[in-house]
Amino acid sequence: MTDIITAADRVELARQAASFIIARANEAVAARGRFSIALAGGSTPRATYQQLASPALRNLMPWAHTLVFFGDERAVAPDHPDSNFRMAREALLDNVPLGPESIHRMRGEATDLAAAAAEYADLLRERLGEPPRLDLVLLGVGDDGHTASIFPDVVDACRGPQWVTAVVSAAKGPRLTLTLPTLAAARQVVFLIAGADKREVVRRVIERPAGEPAYPSALVQPQSGALTFLLDRDAAAGLRTGR
Ligand code: 6PG
Repeated sequence: MTDIITAADRVELARQAASFIIARANEAVAARGRFSIALAGGSTPRATYQQLASPALRNLMPWAHTLVFFGDERAVAPDHPDSNFRMAREALLDNVPLGPESIHRMRGEATDLAAAAAEYADLLRERLGEPPRLDLVLLGVGDDGHTASIFPDVVDACRGPQWVTAVVSAAKGPRLTLTLPTLAAARQVVFLIAGADKREVVRRVIERPAGEPAYPSALVQPQSGALTFLLDRDAAAGLRTGR
């Protein structure tokens, strides 16, 4: 089942995304005693992370029962300006009561990224079981239709069976990323997308026009989980119903 939720603007999108995550987190803890989330990188999620860390919302999250993972990471040190971990640490992780044992960083700085990918897959299995079913995976979409670090030129390397892989995209260089099977195993996948510049890619990912090659983001199909697109009005404007 695919839900599309449209917010008026980026601020409202961040608020709705934070509320959505809080609701799923409390449901997961009530059902299974814990909540596991894979955070997205890039720039869009920052405002949502800041909302989750805000005094108004911070205490609504079950942090003591939350495990934080990452959807992908650049091949940089964790304090590098391009690091997805650094963005999440500054916007969220340093500002909420999460112990270091609950935060699972991808080691983008590793000289052997394939080994770092295998290490992260072992960590997922150890914490979440086999297959590693994340409760919620937060994703963004790039202009070329990529998600996490599943870029068009490396899709085949991201089809599994590994849960995590290292890729080298011609456009974006070396990365670590969860693979399509790991995204498919999630209980809930949420695409968080904002801005008029994403209008066309949103249309192609959601409406999948006949005769056009599927973008990597369109290959994210939760097996039994839910798929939700959280969009601002600008990003949703290209959809047939102009949601
Ligand atoms: C990354 C992300 C990537 C991101 C999209 C959208 O490492 O950059 O994992 O998949 O979500 O590129 O990025 P924006 O939110 O900055 O548009």
